[in-house]
Amino acid sequence: MIIFNEVLVVSFLLFTPTWAFPPSGVELGGSRRRRDVTCRDNVEHPSNNICCKNCPAGKYVKSPCTRAGEMGECEECVFGTYIEHSSGLERCFKCTLCRPDQEVVRPCTSTQDTECQCKAGRFCAPDQACEVCKTCSRCKKDEVIVRNCTTTTNTECKKIQSPSASTSVIAPVIGMFLLVAFCCLIWAIVWYRKRRRPTDSQSNRPDGLKAGEDDEQFPELVPLNGEESLRRCFEYFEELDVDYHKRFFRHLGIVDNVIKSKEHLSFEDRMHEVLNIWVEKMGRDASLNDLLKALLVFNQRRTAENIKQKAIDYGHYKCENEFCEPFSGIV
Ligand SMILES: *[C@@H]1O[C@H](CO)[C@@H](O)[C@H](O)[C@H]1NC(C)=O
Repeated sequence: MIIFNEVLVVSFLLFTPTWAFPPSGVELGGSRRRRDVTCRDNVEHPSNNICCKNCPAGKYVKSPCTRAGEMGECEECVFGTYIEHSSGLERCFKCTLCRPDQEVVRPCTSTQDTECQCKAGRFCAPDQACEVCKTCSRCKKDEVIVRNCTTTTNTECKKIQSPSASTSVIAPVIGMFLLVAFCCLIWAIVWYRKRRRPTDSQSNRPDGLKAGEDDEQFPELVPLNGEESLRRCFEYFEELDVDYHKRFFRHLGIVDNVIKSKEHLSFEDRMHEVLNIWVEKMGRDASLNDLLKALLVFNQRRTAENIKQKAIDYGHYKCENEFCEPFSGIV
């Protein structure tokens, strides 16, 4: 900008006395002779009352022409100086030095001044005199960058949309979703616990007579000979699929160490041993119904029905609720 202004001023001073003003007065004194000629703009310039052809860009007039319409002696601008257009200038302009807050975009040549621009992080608006590069703004915390700072434009920021627009729609949806998910989780935990601990819930019931909703309509058996009846039924559990017995024991609350300690035994003996341990552990609460329900947990309904039927057929137990017959599961 400054450079351009300078060029204007200098060229104004240099050229105006010769052709910009019509020959109209005597006040110019010594230059009176010049006033009499009018030369073609941008092509010629007056010198000693005649019009000389301009020197080309990058050259200055070292000595003027002696005959009208001719070009005088032109000389290349020395390093560090320039003339941008063809002219009758007798001196070249000094090249601009970029300021410390600027960097060189294009170095000076004899026909073009240095081009400077603000260094990164600084800018100068093109319609203002760039006396100093301004620092680019930073967006505030509640703003986002719409356009990065350039050498000629400041950063453009925009306020982040308040929770009135997009978030106000999304937030409740997410909230609802989380709430539903949370409820499902709680429900799943409750359901899982209920299924996992039929023995616990059973033992809390007086006499274990009332069947809960999740007992899958399985009959309640009543021992005819107390604990002995229960022990007599252990052998019926030998038909339990070997793949399930470990889980079955665990489900009854037998710890892994105990199960492991019986692993050397045959499957039948192991079943008896572990069930005995269970009976000792449960005491009066030990009930065949709990064992059968544990089988149901592992989808061993067929086995459970078989054991139940044997327990009744061999006279150890009798059936005491509305689900005693018929036994559709038995084949
Ligand atoms: C601003 O510049 C940064 C890094 O130079 C870039 O990651 C970001 O996308 C730019 N932002 C815009 C709005 O152009």
